[in-house]
Amino acid sequence: MDYIMDMELRNKTALVTGSTKGIGKAIAMELAKEGVHVLINGRDYDEVQSTVNEIKSEFPATSPQNAAADLVDIEQREALLEKFPNIDILVNNMGIYEIMQYEDADDEVWDKYIHTNVLAANGLTKFYLPQMLKNDFGRVIFMASEEAIMPSGKMPQYAVTKSMLLSLSKSLSKLTVGTEVTVNTVMPGPTLSENVQQIIEGIYPDEKMSFSEKEKQFMAANLPQSEIQRFIRPIEIGRLVAFICSPHASAFKGSPIRMDGGMVPTII
Ligand SMILES: NC(=O)c1ccc[n+]([C@@H]2O[C@H](COP(=O)([O-])OP(=O)(O)OC[C@H]3O[C@@H](n4cnc5c(N)ncnc54)[C@H](OP(=O)(O)O)[C@@H]3O)[C@@H](O)[C@H]2O)c1
Repeated sequence: MDYIMDMELRNKTALVTGSTKGIGKAIAMELAKEGVHVLINGRDYDEVQSTVNEIKSEFPATSPQNAAADLVDIEQREALLEKFPNIDILVNNMGIYEIMQYEDADDEVWDKYIHTNVLAANGLTKFYLPQMLKNDFGRVIFMASEEAIMPSGKMPQYAVTKSMLLSLSKSLSKLTVGTEVTVNTVMPGPTLSENVQQIIEGIYPDEKMSFSEKEKQFMAANLPQSEIQRFIRPIEIGRLVAFICSPHASAFKGSPIRMDGGMVPTII
């Protein structure tokens, strides 16, 4: 008989920020597959509802809910916390990124990146962590990037925020000593979210070329350091995150967990 690993996550509740598309949606799907009730978030109420409906029809034993809110807006964030005061798992996935010249990023841009990529996640964590410690179970995951430890120089305003998450995660992990609460950071490498796919299609408009050919050419020309020479699929990150959320992964404490396709060339 095949042995199928039970992640022991049934009936847990997870808030996955930025989960209407890309990596966040894949994480929500993988958690729902494990029987988790997922709270779906994004800024567009109808788009969030359509993801909720999709998950409900695929995993009818779970109760996904609409947690639409702009998490950068403090009032909207607090209203969300009031609506959903109890969760077991917080996946701080939402984040913005854009290639940008250093000289083009003024204080307003830096402010936006820090508020969106760091302070929104910090605000949610500050609210939920004490309750997780009280319950003696909880998972907090921050979504960083290989840019956190290997800035490419193409997006300094982004790389800084992702480095900050690594430090925040380790500091918060220190507060979980002796408990079944973990705080970790996942560092995906280049991942094929809908946004990224559109960018590749835009670079290679040739309709006769298959996507995998476009992907191969793009990787060879732009990301030669990737050892997989393809984009990571969101579902791969989703499966990793589901495992980190499981009670089997209690020994990951304050860890920077790399799934970068070999982008970072160092041993650790
Ligand atoms: N894709 C990659 O190659 C890659 C690599 C490494 C790390 N990452 C990280 O992984 C995370 C997800 O990336 P992705 O490519 O999957 O992103 P994405 O496709 O751009 O999706 C972002 C999600 O966040 C939501 N969102 C954006 N701003 C929001 C806000 N203020 N409040 C609430 N929701 C908001 C979006 O929905 P609405 O726009 O409708 O609000 C969407 O659901 C990010 O933190 C990113 O930095 C990505």
